[in-house]
Amino acid sequence: MSAKTYFITTYGCQMNEHDSERMAGMLEAEGYAKAPSPDAADVVLFNTCCIREKADTRLYGNLGHTKAIKDRRPDMRIVVAGCLAQKDKATIQQRAPYVDVVLGTHNLASLPRLLDESLDGPAFEILEQTETFPSALPARRKSPWHAWVSISIGCNNSCTFCIVPAVRGKEISRRLGDIVAEVESLVADGVVEVTLLGQNVNSYGRDLDGTPMFSKLLRALDRVEGLERVRFTSPHPKDLRADSVAAMAECRVACEHIHLPVQAGSDRVLKLMKRAYSRRSYMDKVHMIRSAVPNIAMTTDIIVGFPGETEADFAETLSLVAEVRYDGAYTFQYSPRPMTEAATMDGHLPKEVVQERYERLTALQDAISYERNLATVGSTFEVLVEGFSKKDPSRLTGRTRTNKLVHFQGADLGEGSLCEVTIRSAHPHHLEGRLVGRDTARRGKMSLPLASTASGCGSC
Ligand code: 5AD
Ligand code: SF4
Repeated sequence: MSAKTYFITTYGCQMNEHDSERMAGMLEAEGYAKAPSPDAADVVLFNTCCIREKADTRLYGNLGHTKAIKDRRPDMRIVVAGCLAQKDKATIQQRAPYVDVVLGTHNLASLPRLLDESLDGPAFEILEQTETFPSALPARRKSPWHAWVSISIGCNNSCTFCIVPAVRGKEISRRLGDIVAEVESLVADGVVEVTLLGQNVNSYGRDLDGTPMFSKLLRALDRVEGLERVRFTSPHPKDLRADSVAAMAECRVACEHIHLPVQAGSDRVLKLMKRAYSRRSYMDKVHMIRSAVPNIAMTTDIIVGFPGETEADFAETLSLVAEVRYDGAYTFQYSPRPMTEAATMDGHLPKEVVQERYERLTALQDAISYERNLATVGSTFEVLVEGFSKKDPSRLTGRTRTNKLVHFQGADLGEGSLCEVTIRSAHPHHLEGRLVGRDTARRGKMSLPLASTASGCGSC
């Protein structure tokens, strides 16, 4: 008899990507194999997100489509996991009664048991507290050379727009020794790059030792033989401290990229958002980082149209973006979320106003991203090969340590290998280059770029 199969659709953030790899790992440990599409799968799993309303709507659309398949193949089981499941168990039951299993963010490990129980009828289980760190479960990683590693779960902040604390709970840090041991075993398995995950990585360890330990963690990972790159997401600007920045500057493995979500440029809106920093103190952190790691790439998250945002407030967001000159930004239109303070605030803005501001912001950021990418032309970067380009399989795709996507010729290089690429042309969201060195050995902390014939340093 052929093995049972599964198909997972993941919505939302890297945390969800990581959870999906863990659920795939548990299913494979139970003898399931990955199906090429949901149409053929015995278990169809949706790992959901609820950070913005659009994610809710998309889930119910996809569930409807899957129900049509289940009508033809009643043995198929549908699983809804993740943040939306945590928030909306009852609604899922009501809007999609054909769903077999619902599990939340705190009980991933129960997936195999709930699938068994669902043979006797719907198995829905939502817990309020986490049972096991996702990283402690088996994984079926998408990539042989990259791994997600969760260092903390939950969030103790109370940003007024954000539903995460309500669905992911209080912050719990994982023991440093467990993280390092996991990274060592990943490296032994061929991983060269890890991305540390936490809602607020800079407060990592506060619940363990009473003091943040993120810099200690970076320094411990720097000693892991064979590990080439460490990325992390996301630091909260209010908690980013000089010791973490010094560790980023000094640790060979720490990539020269930081994602530092700003959300808004006006102090009035930052206060309404309860972000606990001002534009000035945010800019101080930007300067601190750039003076410690000169060619670091910086990206951010920005919300447009927060309740009560005036044209003058929005102009401050634009001026902040122009001042920082981010390499890239994830821009979002404010979306009211249940269980958040902002949802009941006065001054919700009409859709057209938000849309128009959003377009101005993305046009500005795209122009800046393009300019910053143009400044890399002629420079040579270390690139970690991720595979073949989706658009042109005769070319390879990879990322610089600054997290820039580069397409280049060099078909005989394997996934996960390090090489050197000279940038020949720039686009707003990627670079094109030429391979100039292959299988580059570890060189220790690099000054970036490796060599430059371009004018301007790419930094502002
Ligand atoms: N509306 C719009 N964007 C949001 N984000 C979080 N909550 C909301 C919301 N209610 C954005 C923030 C955060 C990113 C992960 O999602 O910018 O940093
Ligand atoms: Fe949400 Fe703020 Fe916590 Fe980030 S820090 S997860 S935006 S509450």
